[in-house]
Amino acid sequence: MKDVVLSDGRKLPLELHKVKIVQKLNLPSAEDRKKNMEEAGFNTFLLKNRDVFLDMLTDSGVNAMSDLQQAAMLTADDSYAGSETFYRLRDTLEDIFGTKYFLPAHQGRACENILASVFVSEGQCVPMNYHFTTTKAHIMRNGGEVVEIPTDEAYKITSDVKFKGNMDIDKLKAVIDEKGKEKIAFVRMEAGTNLIGGQPISLDNFRKVSEVTKAAGLLLVLDASLLGDNLHFLKQREDICKNMTIKDIMKELADLSDIVYFSARKLGAARGGAIITSNEELFERMQPLVPLFEGFLTYGGMSVKEMEAINQGLKETLDEDNISQGPQFIEFMTEKLIEKGVPVVTPAGGLGCHLDALKFLPNVPQNEYTAGALAAAIYIISGVRGMERGTLSEQRDKDGNEPLADMELVRLALPRRVFTMSQVLYAVDRIAWLFENRDLVGGLQWKKEPEILRFFFGHLQPKTDWASKLVKKFKEDFGEEL
Ligand code: F0G
Repeated sequence: MKDVVLSDGRKLPLELHKVKIVQKLNLPSAEDRKKNMEEAGFNTFLLKNRDVFLDMLTDSGVNAMSDLQQAAMLTADDSYAGSETFYRLRDTLEDIFGTKYFLPAHQGRACENILASVFVSEGQCVPMNYHFTTTKAHIMRNGGEVVEIPTDEAYKITSDVKFKGNMDIDKLKAVIDEKGKEKIAFVRMEAGTNLIGGQPISLDNFRKVSEVTKAAGLLLVLDASLLGDNLHFLKQREDICKNMTIKDIMKELADLSDIVYFSARKLGAARGGAIITSNEELFERMQPLVPLFEGFLTYGGMSVKEMEAINQGLKETLDEDNISQGPQFIEFMTEKLIEKGVPVVTPAGGLGCHLDALKFLPNVPQNEYTAGALAAAIYIISGVRGMERGTLSEQRDKDGNEPLADMELVRLALPRRVFTMSQVLYAVDRIAWLFENRDLVGGLQWKKEPEILRFFFGHLQPKTDWASKLVKKFKEDFGEEL
């Protein structure tokens, strides 16, 4: 994507790709959307895709693939062991990251399962800039706990700090002093920090984290799932990266880490996962778990076709015109929402546009799942499916207490190269309408609450009949159909 300036001086994010294959979409009526939401237990994860107009749930596994990725899939070498596809992908990873060893896994959380199984034991902790849901679940399942040590800026919804995903180096040193090396399984840094609004980390911060972990003899693990967006921000926002190529940056990040892993549903724009390292001993400790949990070492639970698509997708990550598409479209959407007064996370990050649910719905307290209610309301009034990223996405502690999330966000993901500008403008318009009518939206309560990762399958219900009132007002303003 390129920012071009129009003749009236406005900036326009201009696509440097064209559409070759399309999928038909449906936009159900408001009444039907309400019915669908009720059937889905007011949980956007449980909606059927056929009932969704714009699927902004996630960017995971739903990014548009390039023609070259599709073509590469035909060259896949299908075999249980020793597939040529594996060696091609391994070589690309080595070329881009400079790492020698590659362990395939079927997706990001499968990598986390292996990492947590090998390195986390009862009573240990994992300091990190911020947790991701599946990462935390795997660490806790192995008896460990997560210690979050981002800079204070991470918790500020609106800010002009360029790297809100950074780790607080003093806090890292303090955790190491307090816990001691034996109680720390590893230190984890997440690029493009997901749950605080896709906020990037800086190369300078990563260098400092690495210096501390090396001095303390601790492992540093980089979650590179959202590295594509983060690389765009490094090139745009950090002076030391201006004269580096994307590959230089990727190599240095891998060099500073002991282990890098990623969900290739995001990085690589296909469907899979990878753990990479240059450390033979670490590789050998993790290796036996791949055939145990995933599949043979040369496919790790992935389809070889997907591995070919990842291989090509990773090469395309080196193209700034490509990796800028997501962040620039997100910035466009964020700015349009700000123009309409809608509260959003700033600066605009990667992955998607993030709404501040507590400001959006000041009448709905956090223990009534503000962001969950907002995500449900957005679907009802627009057919747009977002994702709750707040208290519902937390898990109860061992005593059953429910921690309130640091932030109550609704994420409107913009999978890369998928939506058009008119679709984005439609979503902005309906969300702005909802903001005008926010007093109509009420809270949610549990109907059925699962124990693990409850946000995936949990069923909720509205505390009052607010959904009916919302649809009534919507029909008054827009008529029966849309
Ligand atoms: N790490 C990060 C930073 C992620 O965003 C995700 C997934 C994972 C790990 C796990 O990877 O899905 O391939 O198992 N994020 C998706 C999302 C689910 O919607 O944000 P996975």
